[in-house]
Amino acid sequence: ACISTVKAEVSKTIIVSNRLPIKITEDEQGYALQPSEGGLATGLASIHAQGDNSWIGWPGISISDPQQRAYFTSALKEKRLVPLFLDEEEIKGFYEGFSNEVLWPIFHYFPNYANYSLQNWETYVRVNHKFLELILREAGPDDTIWIHDYQLLLLPGMLRKALPDASIGFFQHIPFPSQELFRLIPWRKELLEGMLGADLLGFHTFDDVRHFISSATRLIGTNNNANRLEVDGRPVFVEPFPMGIDSKRFSDLSSAEAVKNRVAELKSNFSGQKIVLSIDRLDYSKGILQRLEAFELFLRENPNFHKKVTLYMIVVPSRDTVPHYRELKDQIDRLVGHINAQYGAYDWYPVAYFYHGYPITEISAVYNVADVCLVTPMRDGMNLVSKEYVASRKDETGVLILSEMAGAAKELIDAVIVNPNNIHDIRNALLTALNMPLAEMKKRMKSMQAIVFKFTVQHWATLFMSRLQEIKNVQSTTKAR
Ligand code: F6P
Repeated sequence: ACISTVKAEVSKTIIVSNRLPIKITEDEQGYALQPSEGGLATGLASIHAQGDNSWIGWPGISISDPQQRAYFTSALKEKRLVPLFLDEEEIKGFYEGFSNEVLWPIFHYFPNYANYSLQNWETYVRVNHKFLELILREAGPDDTIWIHDYQLLLLPGMLRKALPDASIGFFQHIPFPSQELFRLIPWRKELLEGMLGADLLGFHTFDDVRHFISSATRLIGTNNNANRLEVDGRPVFVEPFPMGIDSKRFSDLSSAEAVKNRVAELKSNFSGQKIVLSIDRLDYSKGILQRLEAFELFLRENPNFHKKVTLYMIVVPSRDTVPHYRELKDQIDRLVGHINAQYGAYDWYPVAYFYHGYPITEISAVYNVADVCLVTPMRDGMNLVSKEYVASRKDETGVLILSEMAGAAKELIDAVIVNPNNIHDIRNALLTALNMPLAEMKKRMKSMQAIVFKFTVQHWATLFMSRLQEIKNVQSTTKAR
């Protein structure tokens, strides 16, 4: 609703992100279209659905046959999605290589995982340019271009050169690190200059904003007046926009018949037990191993909870072609196997572990059945799972345990907050959550719901777009003078 209000003034918005919200998959039966994983795709889907807004991005597969490409291009066009096809070498260098072996680990404070390959950097530059060319073919003169995330840091700068007056917004969905980490990257200057092509740079939290400003001022000497930077005589604003979710969708799903039936089924499968839920993409930033260690510590010290609690752990396959992700998968498999072998019994597995993606109705059912949701990333830009859990709990029960390293911890202050590196802290939080009196549980959940239902993804997008519009208006008045 909100974007369309803005739309009347700014014409259409073109969302640009590495991934489209729909991916093309291939198996023995042929090709299929499926929803993409991750917060960005799910978060922006409801925004894209409005008006004539379109979305440019990679459909998640390499297709070399021109006829197949043409077929999918026209199938996706009906959904106002514009695919940008990448070949194998581009996927390796741009996506797996530079994006996920340099930017992802550095931005999530895992500097030892970074692989500074010059070749991957060159592919990153080339693919950002490929996005530019496609935008230039798609965009009308009055369109607003909203670029998303770390895979496209150079794109705002490239676009600014090609369209000096364009309205360009950029939002980063992952943390922006302290400049002490950011400066490790050999191409830090180029990355900053790329980002500064935007009129408005958005991050989830105030800390990300100040880290970015500190990198820009210290590493390339950008002048600033608080969060207003001066770039070639042009103002660039850097501001926090904590992303929300489509809360109504999750609360509506909780009352859907299919979800209710599935909840009943799960409850009977796990009768007499409390469910502690864990859902993430496979990623070392999510703290999955530490979470399992904490759960093991909890089981070791609390035999009275044996057969009374199950850790229901969904790990959604992701980036498994990147070496550190493959290793992590093996480590998780081993640790789950160890815990189940050590503490399990013929009638109870402490960890119910699923390595799959699931449709949203299933996810809604597990949110509804979970007594506790355990979200302990080592670093996370926002973390939408925590918000989805809160939005799903119509009866106001359930306890959220949340890492202080997730952006969401700045908003959901009534969660049980933990340091994800401290497994004793997580163990204590589990005890607190599992023993929490109903009245306290409801009080905390209610106050978190107030936030999640007020600051929705629609609210986030409206705020960002109207702020961008405001900045452009000021720019044109200043120019006219
Ligand atoms: O939200 C962060 C993010 O990296 C998005 O940019 C991305 O679409 C999502 O997580 C999932 O990751 P990937 O696209 O690598 O599967």
